[in-house]
Amino acid sequence: MIQQDSSDYGEWEREILAYRQEFLEKGDSINGSRGLHHYEAIEGWLEQIRDCAFDNNSYIGVPVTTFLALRKESGRAEGIPHIVGNIEIRHRLNPALEELGGHIGYSVRPSERRKGYAVRMLRETLAFARGLGLERVMLDCDADNTGALKTILKCGGVFEKDTLCEYRGKQIRNRHFWISLT
Ligand SMILES: CC(C)(COP(=O)(O)OP(=O)(O)OC[C@H]1O[C@@H](n2cnc3c(N)ncnc32)[C@H](O)[C@@H]1OP(=O)(O)O)[C@@H](O)C(=O)NCCC(=O)NCCS
Repeated sequence: MIQQDSSDYGEWEREILAYRQEFLEKGDSINGSRGLHHYEAIEGWLEQIRDCAFDNNSYIGVPVTTFLALRKESGRAEGIPHIVGNIEIRHRLNPALEELGGHIGYSVRPSERRKGYAVRMLRETLAFARGLGLERVMLDCDADNTGALKTILKCGGVFEKDTLCEYRGKQIRNRHFWISLT
């Protein structure tokens, strides 16, 4: 585990930065990571993840819980597991998230895609959402993002609507889904 009160994150820092680097090299954004791509050292990133976990401190106005998905590596006796993905849950919606973002955002490391991790991560996070007392969650994605569409549908997503919106300077068709947790 990362010692949250320590400034020596050691091997975790190397792993997280290597994870980030893989997205940057591919020109991919790291959806659902609380902006990991902005951080060249993890201390500031961890600090804002801690801040965002609480209502009063979260800069997006709702509490957010951020997870890393880890795979234990066989043959790697010491050290930390391999990071395969990240996922975050916003504990409630606000008008901005209703339009773009929804309750849950996630990414899988480029070299670990098409192995079922996104579906597993989303299922685990839906269980967490149920634990928060949510009865349903909203997810959205670019209507051209086949991987995300299939992931959401496999986890019980029901289509609500398509909207046109601006995302990173591009006009996209944003597809909204709801997943019931009851
Ligand atoms: C979308 C993303 C999370 C999918 O992750 P993944 O781990 O590869 O997904 P899974 O392996 O769990 O696959 C889920 C389903 O989608 C399909 N799929 C995944 N990527 C696909 C692609 N590029 N094209 C077509 N189908 C794809 C899988 O085949 C699987 O369907 P199947 O079981 O019917 O075969 C990953 O591509 C990613 O990180 N993209 C960038 C960030 C992003 O778009 N996040 C989602 C929006 S917030």
